Amino acid sequence: MTESFANWMQSVQNTIEKTLDELLPSEELIPVKLHQAMRYAVLDGGKRIRPLLVFATGTLFGAQPDIMARVASAVEMIHAYSLIHDDMPCMDNDVLRRGKPTVHVRFGEATALLAGDALQAQAFIVLSETDDKAELAIKRLCILSDASGSMGMCGGQAIDLDSVGKKLSMTQLEQMHRLKTGAILKASVMLGAFCARKPTEKEEQALKLYAEAIGLAFQVVDDILDVTADSSVLGKTAGKDFADHKPTYVSLLGLEPSEKLAEQLRCQAHESLAPFGKKADYLRELADLIVKRKK
Ligand code: IPE
Ligand code: IPE
Ligand code: MG
Ligand code: MG
Ligand code: MG
Repeated sequence: MTESFANWMQSVQNTIEKTLDELLPSEELIPVKLHQAMRYAVLDGGKRIRPLLVFATGTLFGAQPDIMARVASAVEMIHAYSLIHDDMPCMDNDVLRRGKPTVHVRFGEATALLAGDALQAQAFIVLSETDDKAELAIKRLCILSDASGSMGMCGGQAIDLDSVGKKLSMTQLEQMHRLKTGAILKASVMLGAFCARKPTEKEEQALKLYAEAIGLAFQVVDDILDVTADSSVLGKTAGKDFADHKPTYVSLLGLEPSEKLAEQLRCQAHESLAPFGKKADYLRELADLIVKRKK
């Protein structure tokens, strides 16, 4: 990681923390417990990979910082909502997230369910309240809602739950990963561009190839870390996919082939950025981070 990338990453993470804090309802507002749960799930935790992707692409396209901050915060709210629900007893039944008790453990199941619902709504409120061109704002609403719904993240989560204990084909597993995790990551990249302007066809194609490669790589690495990392580093319970008979890249391909695949996808991501030249270096460094991360 270069020093300039590390500094940039820290400054984006600080901006995101501050913006999320401002955009989430205060804990003093009624219903207090719901607002506490929303803030607990979102603030002070996580790698903020999706906001970083919005900022990296947005900066490449010359977007304004305040628009990128709002849009990146909206994506992180959707992500946090997906994690709250993913951890609930009816889904993965996890007790640890970002090094803390999960939202349903801390606040109860009903509040966790509602905190997820309310974060999803808040994300779209935040997205609809930008003061740039309406055309771009509507496009951004479409991108995030498409990626979140039944043809995106929710669809992938449905396939995931339906696949427990089953042996999926490579094609089915790839489809599941592309939807449950890839869709929101791809949306983050595309949203970054639309924070500034409509990309040209050539730019859009290059961004899509990049985003699809890192989107799949991200979940392949998530599956790898489940078997190679410690819960204390991960901030979530390691070894859970195996114990729960979840179909993962590691269970289907084995550890080493999964690591090779992640590396291939990292190279694909780099290659697809060629049309942008050096200006896309932060996106390249993010692809490296996604594949080489230890948590
Ligand atoms: C975890 O996402 C859930 C997946 C989509 C695999 P992250 O690894 O980005 O989680 P945080 O935001 O850093 O906690
Ligand atoms: C979760 O995938 C994906 C979403 C939250 C949409 P996982 O179930 O593998 O995520 P972790 O491992 O619990 O973070
Ligand atoms: Mg899950
Ligand atoms: Mg899970
Ligand atoms: Mg996982």
